[in-house]
Amino acid sequence: MLGGALMNLLSLCWSNTTSENSNSSGGGAGSYSSSSNGAFGRDGLLWYHDVGKYGGGEFSMAVVQANRVLEDQSRIESGRFGTFVGVYDGHGGPDAARYVCDNLFRHLQAISATEENGVVTADMIQRAFSETERGFTDLVSDKWNSQPHLATVGTCCLVGVISQQTLFVASLGDSRVVLGKKVGSTGEIAAIPLSEEHNANIAAVRQELKALHPNDPQIVVLKHGVWRVKGIIQSDYKMHSFYTATGNQDELKVDLLYTYKISRSIGDVYLKHQQFNREPINAKFRLPEPIDMPILSATPSILTHPLHPNDSFLIFASDGLWEHLSNEKAVDIVKSHPHSGSAKRLIKAALQEAAKKREMRYSDLRKIDKKVRRHFHDDITVIVLFLNHDLISKGVVQDPPLSIRSALEH
Ligand SMILES: *[C@@H]1O[C@H](CO)[C@@H](O)[C@H](O)[C@H]1NC(C)=O
Ligand SMILES: *[C@@H]1O[C@H](CO)[C@@H](O)[C@H](O)[C@H]1NC(C)=O
Repeated sequence: MLGGALMNLLSLCWSNTTSENSNSSGGGAGSYSSSSNGAFGRDGLLWYHDVGKYGGGEFSMAVVQANRVLEDQSRIESGRFGTFVGVYDGHGGPDAARYVCDNLFRHLQAISATEENGVVTADMIQRAFSETERGFTDLVSDKWNSQPHLATVGTCCLVGVISQQTLFVASLGDSRVVLGKKVGSTGEIAAIPLSEEHNANIAAVRQELKALHPNDPQIVVLKHGVWRVKGIIQSDYKMHSFYTATGNQDELKVDLLYTYKISRSIGDVYLKHQQFNREPINAKFRLPEPIDMPILSATPSILTHPLHPNDSFLIFASDGLWEHLSNEKAVDIVKSHPHSGSAKRLIKAALQEAAKKREMRYSDLRKIDKKVRRHFHDDITVIVLFLNHDLISKGVVQDPPLSIRSALEH
C-alpha cells in the first residue's frame, strides 16, 4: 500500500521520534488525577478520563491523536436539560470540528431554553445543526481573504442527547454509536448500531446522492475499488496543498491521498456554495463546473430511541475506532471489564489491531509520533455512557452540571 519512498521516510521518522509528547509519567500538563470525578491522564498521544459521573450513570472517555494537528473534538455535558454527547471528526484541518464543538451544544441549549418544560425534541436538534452550519458558513465568508482554507475544512458530527428517558442520536458522516443491550436470559449483550452513516461505499447513500442530483452522472464514481463523492480526492495535509502556492516540501512528501467518502458534513463549504468554489482554492481540488446545489448535505439523520431498562451502555466513536474494531468486539470488550478505563481499553484494542495489520508490535506503534501515525490509524475518540436506569427513570439531574471536553492540544 505504501510506496518505497514513503516507507523510507517512515523509518527515518521512526528513529527520530521527537520527545515533545513522550513523557508518560513526568507530571506534564495533561497528566494529573482528580479524585472528585475520576482519573484523567495523558500517555503519549493518548488522553483519557477513565471514569466519571453524569446524570444517568458513569461515563468513560478517551482520545488518541494521529494527525499532525488533532482533528477530533468531543465533549460531554450533563445538567438540567439532560445529557449531551458530541463527537466531531474533522477533515482537512481541525477548524470545523473545533467550531462545532464550541457552538452546537450552545445552540441546542438556547433553542431548548425557549420551551417551558425544557424537553429536547428531534426538531430542536435539527435546528441546532442548521444554526451551526449557518454560523460556520458566515465565518468562512468573513475570513475568506485572510484564511481561505476554512472553505475546505469540514467535520462529521455525532450527537447523542438523553432527555426524559429518550435517547436522540443525530449524525452527519461516518462516526457511529453502538448500543450494548441485554437480550435473552444468559447475560448475553447484543451490539446494536443506532446511527445512520453517510458513506458513499454504502449503496443506499449512493442511491440518495443520485436521487438528489439526477442531472449529474458523476455524482458518485468508483475509483480503485472505492466509491467517491464527485470523485474528489481529498488530501490529508491539505492545509497547504489546497492553496495555489505550494507548501512545505517535507509535508507534501508524506502527503497521503484519501478519498472523499462522506456525503454529509458541517463545513466543506467549497462543495456547497459556488461563491467558495474559486481561487485561491487550488483548481485541483475544486469542482470544474458551477455548483447549483450543495454536493454535501448538512441535514443530520436523527433517530429517536426510548430507553429500555435492558439498554446497558452506549459506545460513541469516530470512524477511526470502527475501522479496526467490529461493533460486537467493542461491546464484548466493554461488557467484560470494569467501567473504569473502558474508552481507553477500546482505543488500545483498536491500536493493537492497527499494529497487527502492519505486522508490527503495539509497543513499536506507540513510539511513532503524530503525523506519521496517520499512516497507521486515524485520530480516534471514544465516549462510553453506562446507563443506570434507576437514575434515568427518576430523572436525576447532574448537580453541579458536568462539562468535559477532550483536552489534547486544543
Ligand atoms: C520529561 O520528563 C523529564 C523528567 O521528569 C524531564 O526532565 C524532561 O524535561 C521531560 N521532557 C519533556 C519533553 O517534557
Ligand atoms: C431483558 O433482559 C432480560 C434478562 O437478560 C431478558 O430475559 C429479556 O428477554 C430482555 N428483554 C428484552 C425486551 O430484550
